[in-house]
Amino acid sequence: MSRTPVILITGASGEIGHGLIERLSTSQKKPIVTLDLAPLAPGLSSKVRQHYIGSILDSTLLDRILAEFEIDMIFHLAAVLSTGGEFAPLVAHKVNVEGTLAMLEFAQREGESHGRPVVFLYPSSIAAYGIPNLKAKAEAGRVREEQFNTPTTMYGCNKLYGEHLGIYYAGHYKQLSETPLAGKVDFRGIRFPGLISAITLPSGGTSDFAPEMIHAAAQGKPYACFVRPDTRIPFMAMPDAIEAMIKLALADKSKLSRHVYNIDAFSPTAEDVAAVVRKAFPKAELSTVVDTKRQGIVDTWPAEVDDSTARRDWGFEPRYNFTKAFEEYLIPTIHQRYAE
Ligand code: SER
Repeated sequence: MSRTPVILITGASGEIGHGLIERLSTSQKKPIVTLDLAPLAPGLSSKVRQHYIGSILDSTLLDRILAEFEIDMIFHLAAVLSTGGEFAPLVAHKVNVEGTLAMLEFAQREGESHGRPVVFLYPSSIAAYGIPNLKAKAEAGRVREEQFNTPTTMYGCNKLYGEHLGIYYAGHYKQLSETPLAGKVDFRGIRFPGLISAITLPSGGTSDFAPEMIHAAAQGKPYACFVRPDTRIPFMAMPDAIEAMIKLALADKSKLSRHVYNIDAFSPTAEDVAAVVRKAFPKAELSTVVDTKRQGIVDTWPAEVDDSTARRDWGFEPRYNFTKAFEEYLIPTIHQRYAE
């Protein structure tokens, strides 16, 4: 019996998964198979061939998926984010590190079984950076991939190590064995900035203050931002993040000069975000109540990243700058979302 060729998405019920399923189901011919602890949001189930409810750490379930489907591309989205990870570091490590290892091993076995490299798309994060203090952050400018690789959160440590594991599988897996085994996993990672979706809300991230502010205002709820108004980190509109993942997954491998890329779109301060939100929702009740601990995390993340290699190698180009993200995507889509 031949297996059906599919694209696999883990963590599919999360924020990125939501947009990725929508986009892949219209642009790709291959059916999509998804895996998550939670069911898919209503409306998404019809867009996938099969949704498995379960854990990436469940080896029996992974074996079942391998037995049934042939996989050339994996989007491994399942993760515990940075704030959640500080409350449960061991759980974060289990999911983010052991889970990633299990999925890389899964990809390796699949690549060995059908003989082609399996593209493994890995969302890493600006949390992989750890800048020691605000003076250094102000002086750092646009941070390159190899700078400040000293994360301070469990999530950041996990993401950075996940990148290294991926690079190991891609280039050095069982390097002492007699038959070459590396190269079955075609590992490609993106260090995402904070993502803002008009449709979904993140859970357990530390960049959540921007999306939370917008969604609260759209629902007429008061919101107290947990970082100082002058806090600046990179953000991106969700559709650009989805496009970037697909573009990198489909990029010509010979053009890729590295495994993990920064991408950047805009870097507003929290006050800049509040100002556009107030303009769009004049009744918005926004205030600031700094959570010094979460602030401490955000202060270690760069204000801007250098994404010149992604632009050069695979043509990354975000559609939305700060103004366009709000005027053309966030505000109209969010109005519609809550009107529904
Ligand atoms: N947005 C994520 C977080 O805040 C970082 O990748 O945890």
